[in-house]
Amino acid sequence: MSEQVWKAHDYDRQLSFVSAYGKGVVELLTPQPGERILDLGCGTGDLANEISASGAHVTGMDDSAEMIERAKSKYPGLTFLAGDGENFDTESPYDAIFSNAALHWMKDADGVVRSVYGALKPGGRFVAEFGGKGNIDGIYQALKTVFADHYGMDADTRNPWYFPSLGQYTTLLESHGFRVRIAHHFDRPTKLPEGKDGVKYWLLHFGDRFFAGFSAEEKDEAIARISQAARATLWREDAFYADYKRLRVFAEKVS
Ligand SMILES: C[S@@+](CC[C@H](N)C(=O)[O-])C[C@H]1O[C@@H](n2cnc3c(N)ncnc32)[C@H](O)[C@@H]1O
Repeated sequence: MSEQVWKAHDYDRQLSFVSAYGKGVVELLTPQPGERILDLGCGTGDLANEISASGAHVTGMDDSAEMIERAKSKYPGLTFLAGDGENFDTESPYDAIFSNAALHWMKDADGVVRSVYGALKPGGRFVAEFGGKGNIDGIYQALKTVFADHYGMDADTRNPWYFPSLGQYTTLLESHGFRVRIAHHFDRPTKLPEGKDGVKYWLLHFGDRFFAGFSAEEKDEAIARISQAARATLWREDAFYADYKRLRVFAEKVS
């Protein structure tokens, strides 16, 4: 389970780019009418809703009660349930399991892949995109430097993310019996909203675990320092561009 606190309303207001980018992953999934599909780490439900427009029967699963509550209120016609992606099963297997921008929050990747494999029908597909090796390294290196120089801390001990290389992840999928049909590790520089406060808001949304035990003042100060340190590599004209590096996979359960 991640220790991140998800602020569902703010997520929709300031981070709609996350699910907007996920529409390309829905195209790769090509959901069909009548299929049973699980959206793993569904957040506030926008992509589950997008998938359901195909006529598929979608279930959204997430371990954040706040995200699930908001998804239910936005899309009352869809099914959403609380569950841990690192360890789940199902009575009725799915035709496909989809996930956008969620798997890097689940550090027990072996548990995720085992659960996904077990919850698919034979021939079922697993289509996912998430952070790959090197993802947001510009922000992370700025944070690491500030933590070491000003707080005498090793940020690695608080890192909440799993960013595997293409080789690591496809090997993991194959070790569980998947046939990997497509795997792509690509750069996706991402313009952060909120101009000069882009890194600040990004950290306020995604960086909870790093600032555990900080007072409000210390957190503000640390975030200001990290934003300043990140400017050298990530600022372009009018905004921060986070150096997202995504891993996109399409795998099939062989038998
Ligand atoms: C960045 S959001 C992405 C949400 C959505 N897929 C989208 O594209 O907007 C990551 C989501 O993963 C969920 N998550 C993190 N760890 C999880 C876990 N172990 N099991 C289920 N969901 C998890 C979070 O609660 C959050 O809603």
